[in-house]
Amino acid sequence: MKNRFRILFLASEVSPFAKTGGLADVTSSLPKALYDMGHDVRIIMPKYGIISERKYILREVIRLKKIPVRMGSKEHVTCAKSAFIPDSKVQVYFLDYPAYFSRPELYVDAKTGTDFPDNAERFMLLCRATLATTKLLHWQPQVIHCNDWQTAMIPWLLKHEYAQDPFFAGTATVLSVHNLSYQGSFDKSVLPRIGIGPEVNTSDLEIWDRINFLKSGLVTSDLITTVSPTYAEEIQTDMEQSAGLLDILRRRKNDIHGILNGVDYSVWNPEKDPFISPYDADNLSGKLENKKALTARAKLPFDEKTPIIGIVSRMVDQKGFDLIADVIDKLISLKVQLVVLGTGDERYHKFFKKAAKTNPNQIAAFLTFDEELAHLIEAGSDMFLMPSRFEPCGLNQMYSLRYGTVPIVRKTGGLADTIIDFVLEPEKGTGFVFTDYSSNAMLTAIHHAVTAFQDQKNWIKIQRRGMKVDFSWTQSAENYIKVYQKLESKKRK
Ligand code: ADP
Ligand code: GLC
Repeated sequence: MKNRFRILFLASEVSPFAKTGGLADVTSSLPKALYDMGHDVRIIMPKYGIISERKYILREVIRLKKIPVRMGSKEHVTCAKSAFIPDSKVQVYFLDYPAYFSRPELYVDAKTGTDFPDNAERFMLLCRATLATTKLLHWQPQVIHCNDWQTAMIPWLLKHEYAQDPFFAGTATVLSVHNLSYQGSFDKSVLPRIGIGPEVNTSDLEIWDRINFLKSGLVTSDLITTVSPTYAEEIQTDMEQSAGLLDILRRRKNDIHGILNGVDYSVWNPEKDPFISPYDADNLSGKLENKKALTARAKLPFDEKTPIIGIVSRMVDQKGFDLIADVIDKLISLKVQLVVLGTGDERYHKFFKKAAKTNPNQIAAFLTFDEELAHLIEAGSDMFLMPSRFEPCGLNQMYSLRYGTVPIVRKTGGLADTIIDFVLEPEKGTGFVFTDYSSNAMLTAIHHAVTAFQDQKNWIKIQRRGMKVDFSWTQSAENYIKVYQKLESKKRK
């Protein structure tokens, strides 16, 4: 393959256009890093209702005014508009099909709290329209880089429906798994609606007597990546982490690469962050201004000596909220303040609402999605808690390091790869790490952090050490290029 790759990135969310979690951060910053390295990288994502055409200056693309997509007995006439990721030259195509994508939410109906019943059709349409789009553009990608289940049908389509199509003869696929626990699993009755007839062999698509988009991608993509080396290891050795797909993953062990996510320091950098009072490692007093601002926003009393623990997270079981719920009283007795920002499962909303009401001087809970506040919490907190049950990579612990906000994390996935425990390695430690998935282990780590915080001279050393750690995308993007280079041998000639 030549040095300059044509890479098509396909994702269901891309920051800043649409975001529910870290996936959006990665699908925005990795393409930017690849573009900066000289590659021709373009992105396709759905044009959701929440994406403002005016704000992001979406323009019509003459060749993409009509993209017919046949699925079963229906022909869907879609179109695509285009814009650039702000402050970059990375082009994004927005697949416009209001019947599927104009709703305010991405995957889950806020009214019912459950997945949209037509998610299979929505994301199969995205995959089919993506292949049609490249043809209409006469742009032959060498790599189609898929991300998570919503895009995982592309490799299957190329292997089955497009196997003989010369347009894609030079195209190979990579599937990045950001989270194995979301698989896109559907009843088989969906098949005709996603354009797969009874004559088709669906064995690559099936598991547990259901259709599973992620499984199809794991079986049919040319290479697989996941977002940290430890998670890559865990999903091939640990039953629970593999979310039922252990055998499939083991069969592909030579094709799985764990590449740590990076941080987009143009977005997450306390020296230039527009949402906070700026500061840097030499001038940490600026951080105190943010602590004041955060307590004001959270309506908590300000006390320099009381450590604030921040949490910014999707409120789902993965993130370890049950551990916090178990010991909230003990946690409070450590004389800390807790500022939580997150949305997700109703029971965690209820829990934090109640906890904040009972402890108005120590707990504040924001149960919304608020990008700006996420930055203020990173800047204004002293510590950042991520007690995840599992964590493919995790981004907030890396953001926290740069903001001098000391992470307290469970040793799993990307958290294990990015944070060094201060208790075990006082000369190198950047955070506090616990191993057992138990509230006691978590409390002990928090206790260590709170004790260390009392010795401010030493604490500043931990903060500064973390602020100097560099997780910029360059290294990770180079590792992705190495993966793309391996695809050469996989291509159909
Ligand atoms: P995950 O992708 O599993 O949710 P990550 O740590 O990789 O976890 O990334 C989470 C991203 O989503 C971070 O950028 C974080 O700041 C952001 N985020 C999560 N919840 C919220 C929220 N309620 N408001 C604003 N940002 C949020
Ligand atoms: C997923 C994972 C998270 C990871 C993110 C971006 O949502 O839960 O750990 O950082 O994807 O890769």
